[in-house]
Amino acid sequence: MKVSVSTISIAELDVDLLFVPVSSEEIDSGLEALTEAFGSVVERARSDVRGDGSNATVLYPETGTAKRIVLVGLGTAETTTFEKLRLAASKAANVAYNVKAETVGISIPSLSMSGDDTAQALVEGFVLGSYRFDRYRTSEQPGEAAQRLVIQTTDHDKQVRRGADKGRIIAEAVCSARDLVNLSPDEKTPTLLSKAIEKSGKKHGYDVSVWDKALIQEEGMGGLLAVNRGSQEPPTFSVLEWRPENARNSRPIILVGKGVVFDTGGLSLKPTKGSMDSMKCDMAGAAAVVGAMEAIAKLDLPLYVIALIPATDNRPGENAYVPGDVVKMHSGKTVEVLNTDAEGRMILADALSYASSFYPEIVIDLATLTGAAVVALGEFVAAVMTNAEEGSEERLTDITLAGAESGDRVHPLPMFDDYNEQLKSTVADLKNVGGRGGGSITAAKFLEHFVDYPWIHVDIAGPAFWDTAHGYSQAGGTGFGVRLLTRYLQHVSEKKR
Ligand code: BES
Ligand code: MN
Ligand code: ZN
Repeated sequence: MKVSVSTISIAELDVDLLFVPVSSEEIDSGLEALTEAFGSVVERARSDVRGDGSNATVLYPETGTAKRIVLVGLGTAETTTFEKLRLAASKAANVAYNVKAETVGISIPSLSMSGDDTAQALVEGFVLGSYRFDRYRTSEQPGEAAQRLVIQTTDHDKQVRRGADKGRIIAEAVCSARDLVNLSPDEKTPTLLSKAIEKSGKKHGYDVSVWDKALIQEEGMGGLLAVNRGSQEPPTFSVLEWRPENARNSRPIILVGKGVVFDTGGLSLKPTKGSMDSMKCDMAGAAAVVGAMEAIAKLDLPLYVIALIPATDNRPGENAYVPGDVVKMHSGKTVEVLNTDAEGRMILADALSYASSFYPEIVIDLATLTGAAVVALGEFVAAVMTNAEEGSEERLTDITLAGAESGDRVHPLPMFDDYNEQLKSTVADLKNVGGRGGGSITAAKFLEHFVDYPWIHVDIAGPAFWDTAHGYSQAGGTGFGVRLLTRYLQHVSEKKR
């Protein structure tokens, strides 16, 4: 979507649809400016506009150049949040999609928030709310996403432009993550996924190198190779790098994304209904990390960031790994496999121990790791855990704040060492599953055995993929994690200023 900023008056803005977010104060005082621009239809529609943003009121103006006006209430100017603005904009995006509006204007309201933030939130919500995945449809669509977005403002247009650009860059990165997740599994084998990552790197200006199976073997990534044994497709390991000259850190920040391109469970086969049927989403961590690299490159963030993506599918082919197999991992530790469906931690453990060779400042992994995270927190919030290494409180505070601000919300789970008892094996250093309780925590405790640096683990099994639309996401991949990581990294770079 093309996004521009204009200081033309709302009455003169020539668009198919003009979205006007309005505060309760404006509604209460009679929407005078709007009535002046568009006539008495505004007056008549006034009582339909709810302050809580729960509906979008569409009206067809008598005067002015805009073909349609969409009004969405925001609550009071004082209490409006980033998230309320995103949700309001996504309501307008749905209307715009349904009427196939090609050009859309957004009038920037004056709120307690800065012009930057207001514009960013509205653009983010609009672009995210306009997203539809139509790649495989052959029949005509009920709607169409807008091509051009004009941000209308009366003052502070520099700030508004900056905010609008940020919003567009971030939302577009979320949409590329959604695209990867929504792709049919046969179009994202590990090899094809790594090709897509290479293409993303070229387009957005970061470096990518891809390891093939031979190199993965040479590096001794036993976990990744074990999971891959039942597959027809070789694994890949992608290394992404963003290293600008003005980087404020010398030791890299490393992002790791789980890239299980399809999870059948392997020989510990998943049932289909409500379980295996959505497992093309099991590379959503990888997709989020790719999206985050796109965003930080486009935002030109002054940070040295590396991303690691181990990719394979998990299938019960002839040579598949079996319960009882003991696997020698990249770190040298041995793992007794007692459930082949606990494959994510096998491939992540290798990526995490490899990350150690960069002496990272911090490593953050994103993974659709456990159904237990969905049981604990539901579909809207990811579980976050960190190791006890120095600064753990601060890490949890920082990532939780980044979540609240970005809209990709996370909530902490504990990491007491008592949980390690569940991972004791009778034959190897560790086993790959714990007991019935605390499944997200035992998964994280397993991974903790492979890290020796400050580390944040985000289990995105709940919010990565939805069966039904909600807020500014349709059913399917949500792109969760892109905004979380981007926001977190923006904070890191500001702190280092
Ligand atoms: N990919 C799944 C986890 C998952 C579940 C992601 C629901 C998204 C939605 C993971 O590989 C898995 O199968 N985990 C097992 C672990 C168990 C065998 C210890 C699970 O959660 O059941
Ligand atoms: Mn699994
Ligand atoms: Zn999985």
